[in-house]
Amino acid sequence: MSTGTTSSSKTIAPVDLAAERAELGAALEEAVLRVLRSGAYVLGPEVERFEADFARMHRVPNAGVGVSNGTDALILALRALGVKAGDEVVTSPFTFFASAGAIAWIGAKPVLADVELDTALLDVAKARAAITSKTTCILPVHLYGQLVDMKSFRALADEKQLALLEDCAQSHGAERDGVRSGELGDASAFSFYPTKNLGACGEGGMILSRRKEVVERAKRLRDHGSPVKYQHAEIGTNSRLQGIQGAALNVKLPHLERWNERRRAVAARYTQLLSGSKAITLLRVPAASLHVYHQYALRLVGGVPRERVLEKLKSEGILAAVHYPSPVHTQEAARDWGYKAGDFPNAERLAREVVCLPVHPFLSAADVERVAEATLRAAEGR
Ligand SMILES: Cc1ncc(COP(=O)(O)O)c(C=O)c1O
Repeated sequence: MSTGTTSSSKTIAPVDLAAERAELGAALEEAVLRVLRSGAYVLGPEVERFEADFARMHRVPNAGVGVSNGTDALILALRALGVKAGDEVVTSPFTFFASAGAIAWIGAKPVLADVELDTALLDVAKARAAITSKTTCILPVHLYGQLVDMKSFRALADEKQLALLEDCAQSHGAERDGVRSGELGDASAFSFYPTKNLGACGEGGMILSRRKEVVERAKRLRDHGSPVKYQHAEIGTNSRLQGIQGAALNVKLPHLERWNERRRAVAARYTQLLSGSKAITLLRVPAASLHVYHQYALRLVGGVPRERVLEKLKSEGILAAVHYPSPVHTQEAARDWGYKAGDFPNAERLAREVVCLPVHPFLSAADVERVAEATLRAAEGR
């Protein structure tokens, strides 16, 4: 949150929900009140409108399936795609734990394949090498707001006859090679956690799929496997998006493209100001990639001590963050998956080197320059 009095002393944080409220607060309050007065607390017309509009924006022909959060979106999408206990699902070791945790939660086995060092995204060739006769699905993660090479992943999934599930928790509205986040997968899972590029006023998630039968099954699964009231065709759960969240997301959705554009402008300025430093390596963005910068990540290289850089930035009121300090396979929760430190060198190196600078639509040009200058000074030990 930006607080403080003068532009030179105010804290610059990774998100600024207060600025978002200042822009949209009145509209949000009115939308939430409308739901309160209508009594449509669970699913209902606001959610239905959002399911249709969000899918349209991602060029997916069927309306989406609003669920309680992004983790449930992954879990229910896996189930809706037919992934079952004992199956193997290939995913990234360098992501928020939910991507792999969702696979394990349904009793399937997360099989990890390393990321590219220069993009931090799942490497197609390494994913291919991880496929076995038990693999039924590939789950790439569009980390930091940049799409993996979806055309190659689509071709790989088709060749091996596997389902392709996109983790789009960080990639609302992103594109690469003319393909939108969620457009090419058999299904995709979005999160509307408040800090995401599009965030609810609480928790929320969405499954998109261009396959009608997957949409129908996901709808059933979010409602205890029930196609008709009190008839249960399969075991599901309760994961229905709330009306208040649908209404808040309807207010925010028309602003998403502009906010993403603003994030790109902030990132472009960071890239301009940080390029050329020996202490910093920027991540690669392919020319055909329309990044939405959920995070602006860079690597501190040449033995620059990350903790010292983070502390120095903090002392100047700049809150940088590390996403993620420990890769998936080194987590205690993953101890039974058969991996050890050293198995995924790129993920491990990124986990040691990466720093994410504040990036959001409400940063001023002066904020961005202040962050970049302080980062250069801290990284270069000046
Ligand atoms: C890559 C990734 N996958 C999945 C999730 C899970 O989403 P949620 O927090 O809404 O359950 C997140 C969000 O934190 C995420 O960043």
